[in-house]
Amino acid sequence: MKKKKIAILTGGGDAPGLNAVIYSVVRACHNMMDCEIIGYKFGYRGLYNNDFMPLTLETTSGILHKGGTMLYNSNKDNLFDYTVVENGVSVKKDVSHVGVDNMKKEGVDVLVVLGGDGTLTSARDFSRMGVNVIGVPKTIDNDLGATEITFGFDTAVNIVTENLGRLHTTAESHHRVIVVEVMGRSAGWIALHSGIAGSADVILIPEIPYSMEKVAEKINERNARGKRFSIVVVTEGAKEKGGSAIVSKVVDDSPDPNRFGGVAEYIANRLEKLVDNEVRHCVLGHIQRGGETSAADRLLSARYGTRAAELIKEGKFGNMVALISGNMAQVPLDEVIGDAKISTSGDKLVDPKGELVRVAKSLGISFADA
Ligand code: F6P
Repeated sequence: MKKKKIAILTGGGDAPGLNAVIYSVVRACHNMMDCEIIGYKFGYRGLYNNDFMPLTLETTSGILHKGGTMLYNSNKDNLFDYTVVENGVSVKKDVSHVGVDNMKKEGVDVLVVLGGDGTLTSARDFSRMGVNVIGVPKTIDNDLGATEITFGFDTAVNIVTENLGRLHTTAESHHRVIVVEVMGRSAGWIALHSGIAGSADVILIPEIPYSMEKVAEKINERNARGKRFSIVVVTEGAKEKGGSAIVSKVVDDSPDPNRFGGVAEYIANRLEKLVDNEVRHCVLGHIQRGGETSAADRLLSARYGTRAAELIKEGKFGNMVALISGNMAQVPLDEVIGDAKISTSGDKLVDPKGELVRVAKSLGISFADA
């Protein structure tokens, strides 16, 4: 049998576990078949520029535990709508054929794409063009519906939980309220999980629009019983009742141009007028994606990577690896993404009536809803 040439790329924002998947795909493929593996740098941009590095047992050694990605990331380079300069003017063009030609030139048989919804949308489209694609779902937001859990989420939850512990001690010392902004875009999973695990007093998520008065009510009730400090965890995309999410920046050439940010500061300023405490805010930001990958995410990534290698061996292309009912399986990329031209917002949101919200409420945590 001919030696298989496999290419891997990582797209979108980075997430802890990307390196662990690369590590696992490389090892599992070498164990299962005669192959050569390369990695395109900076996601689809590397595919366009034919910029790649060899991925061998040696070059990928020692990366299992490390966050980030040794292949670098880009969340702007959609080859189906790519910015190129023509006669000194920037224009958007479909340059996907350049990527396909580069793969043909290098003799690439299979493209393994690690990414979130934006990156996997392009993976679906390359698959429709006849490229043998395997997708692996990545996002710390955990908002991809086709799989039970994405790698990076557990690490982010652990980081936030640890930091909520740190913020508790300083908030208690000063009798302050600290409003902590966490990532997640329009999905409240990180805030919900870490808010429960980290003993937040108020959790504000995009799925449950909040009332500022209700946030104040909870804090004043705690003050009245002698708990003169409070921790509020808020997802960056949370909305006040009747309001909309706060966008801090628009990145025009990104498939998902809106970057959220500023909600914690907004809440802190408003809240200070409604409670007796001094109110501060803290944005955890990219700290949530950095450092070492949690044990659970290393394990999940190893499972995803191994399943991706099995799909390559079995020739089951056009699929995304998925965790379904606790087992590794796969779902057609066409089903994961549907027919959206650019799928940028995740589809798995917190159910306001779901079990975890009920658990949080039964522990006395407020969502500042009705
Ligand atoms: O989707 C993952 C995520 O980390 C979001 O939670 C966050 O809003 C966004 O990416 C931030 O992206 P960037 O890397 O552009 O700051």
